[in-house]
Amino acid sequence: MILVTGGAGFIGANFVLDWLRTSDEPVVNLDALTYAGNLENLASLKGDPRHVFVQGDICDRALIDRLFAEHQPRAIVHFAAESHVDRSIHGPGDFVRTNVNGTFTLLEAARGHWMSLEGEARAGFRFHHVSTDEVYGSLGPNDPAFTETKTYEPNSPYSASKAASDHLVRAWHHTYGLPVTTSNCSNNYGPYHFPEKLIPLMIANALAGKPLPVYGDGMQIRDWLFVTDHCSAIRAILANGTPGEVYNVGGWNEKPNIEIVNTLCALLDELKPDPAGSYRRLITYVTDRPGHDRRYAIDARKIERELGWRPAETFDTGIRKTVEWYLANQDWVAHVQSGAYRDWVEKNYAGRE
Ligand code: NAD
Ligand code: TYD
Repeated sequence: MILVTGGAGFIGANFVLDWLRTSDEPVVNLDALTYAGNLENLASLKGDPRHVFVQGDICDRALIDRLFAEHQPRAIVHFAAESHVDRSIHGPGDFVRTNVNGTFTLLEAARGHWMSLEGEARAGFRFHHVSTDEVYGSLGPNDPAFTETKTYEPNSPYSASKAASDHLVRAWHHTYGLPVTTSNCSNNYGPYHFPEKLIPLMIANALAGKPLPVYGDGMQIRDWLFVTDHCSAIRAILANGTPGEVYNVGGWNEKPNIEIVNTLCALLDELKPDPAGSYRRLITYVTDRPGHDRRYAIDARKIERELGWRPAETFDTGIRKTVEWYLANQDWVAHVQSGAYRDWVEKNYAGRE
């Protein structure tokens, strides 16, 4: 049994689905179902006894203690977070609460549980913390990609709160010996991505004939990784990672935002042509994000060298799969946009643990 936090969000849900596709080990999935949590992502697991969903807050120590005692998970994979930079600019409080206090609460509960274990159970226990490349700050055009020893220079309330959580995780290992691992991953994309983030927002807006808002000059660079590759990296770290170590995870796909938007328009022009003309006509440059980081790039050689992990998807294969998924799942997007996904939760999961 493993305990996953935030498993109704974008990456967490992909991780739970992937985990149960590749193993029969059950998952307890703790998620508060904030606006970003969507149990429709896990609809294919309905009735599957290997998936135990618990609606709850990672800041709730009593609940987490109960879950450890009841389910005795051998590992925790911690995704739950507030994750959207633009929201963190408008309202940083939730980011500090969930990302910092929530991670602290989980670490303390995990430490209490781990100390009660003996022998192999104690030696094999793992706390895996899912973090981001954004903690490292912004790169100039010719700077080397982030390695695991890059100084932390977070610039947004989101990245600062994730950096704080990374520091707590590190300290719980050094001070208490808790067997933690951390991954710092670049921008993910793929199915179930909430349509407030660049790629799903652009697809949804294009299909609705709405403007495609590109911040600033559109030349900010991100490294992009298909979400199932992030999931396989976390599985590799959980299986063979060394406690106390940090692993950078990336797709070797640095792209300026405007190139991403142009690629999405070209794919949509091919797969769902609009009689009104190319979707490119909808591209609209808008005021830049305050403090917008210019470039992120990940040096993912350590995880390849030590754990043999490399991404399976190229950007071309991953982005095509993503656009095809959104075209085939327009109901999912419509439910998110109308808020109906929250009613669906009520209807389908009322009375479950
Ligand atoms: P998301 O916003 O899609 O999902 C977050 C999930 O956490 C939601 O289901 C939400 O309900 C849950 N949650 C939020 N606050 C909670 C709380 N207090 N208690 C319990 N559950 C709570 O995020 P995501 O994009 O899936 O990101 C998952 C993790 O991966 C985050 O830690 C994020 O920092 C990290 N990460 C994301 C990316 C990316 O590109 N999306 C890249 C690198 C790292
Ligand atoms: P986002 O998906 O919010 O991820 P992050 O900020 O965590 O990297 O944004 C990715 C990039 O796209 C980022 O440089 C901001 C930019 N962006 C736009 O240009 N327009 C948009 O509407 C959004 C949401 C993002």
